[in-house]
Amino acid sequence: MSLICFASPKGGVGKTTLAANIADGLQRLGHRVLAIDLDAQNALRLHFGVPLSDRVGFMAGLRSGGDWRGQLRQTASGVLLLPHGATDLRGALDLAVALDRDSDLLGAPVREMLAEPGLVVVADLPPGPSQALATLAPMATMVIGVLQAEAISAALVPEIESGRFLGTGTMAALLAGRLRVVLNGVDLASRLSRASAEAVARHLGFRMLGAMSREETVAESLACQRLLLDHAPDSRAASDLKEVARLISAALPPPGAVAFPAPPDHAGFERPLGMARPPAEAFR
Ligand SMILES: Nc1ncnc2c1ncn2[C@@H]1O[C@H](COP(=O)(O)OP(=O)(O)OP(=O)(O)O)[C@@H](O)[C@H]1O
Ligand SMILES: [Mg+2]
Repeated sequence: MSLICFASPKGGVGKTTLAANIADGLQRLGHRVLAIDLDAQNALRLHFGVPLSDRVGFMAGLRSGGDWRGQLRQTASGVLLLPHGATDLRGALDLAVALDRDSDLLGAPVREMLAEPGLVVVADLPPGPSQALATLAPMATMVIGVLQAEAISAALVPEIESGRFLGTGTMAALLAGRLRVVLNGVDLASRLSRASAEAVARHLGFRMLGAMSREETVAESLACQRLLLDHAPDSRAASDLKEVARLISAALPPPGAVAFPAPPDHAGFERPLGMARPPAEAFR
């Protein structure tokens, strides 16, 4: 029903961290959330406590067919997860070629996910341009461009602002309207970080959705394979995260506002989808 993509022209800026924790944040606000990992690093699953040894996933098996519903994992957070799955260099290259030839290989299952009433799909994209981004961006409700609060971000603002990293020409112009930026890793004690963050915020205006502070608890939560709101619920980063989740939630149809009944023929799908946390258990 709604698709939120986490993407960035730059790697290592916190896309996966934000995708996982915002998915959890939206779930806590009462949305039914499916998080999908489109990056061959296969790291999104770690935030949800899936063991390192568990290497099976949706994208890695995409070329051999099979229903995406069969790959769904119910995580302890309530968020449904489609891990990417482990792949080697050959597998990753073959998948890129296959997606280039037929973008519906990914587009068709994602359209099916979006046809599920009330479901919010949160997608973690690889850094930079990718087939997955080209396929998903036109379907997205919102593309969240993640930037770090550092000097190089200023150079990336025009890429973000123009929508150029989502496409070219008219397509870029169309998609630019769906772009919002989250500035990650803000260190209020650092003059440079603060100045970079302020400059980017000033320049982006309404396109800047929120900011998240740099904090040890964020990296720690990944090391413990826990979500931030479980690991350090009272931290500043957790409060930043809740604010961003609230703003995203406000742009989505309200939880529970389902326009159509769930399709009856999706055996095994209704149960996990029905396990969204009730709004009463939302943020403390
Ligand atoms: N706000 C933060 N404070 C402290 N550490 C952070 C913060 N955000 C992310 N990190 C850490 O930075 C590292 C990179 O984060 P992450 O993997 O989410 O980035 P990414 O953009 O998904 O990277 P890639 O481009 O490789 O996919 C991780 O170790 C993560 O724990
Ligand atoms: Mg990542």
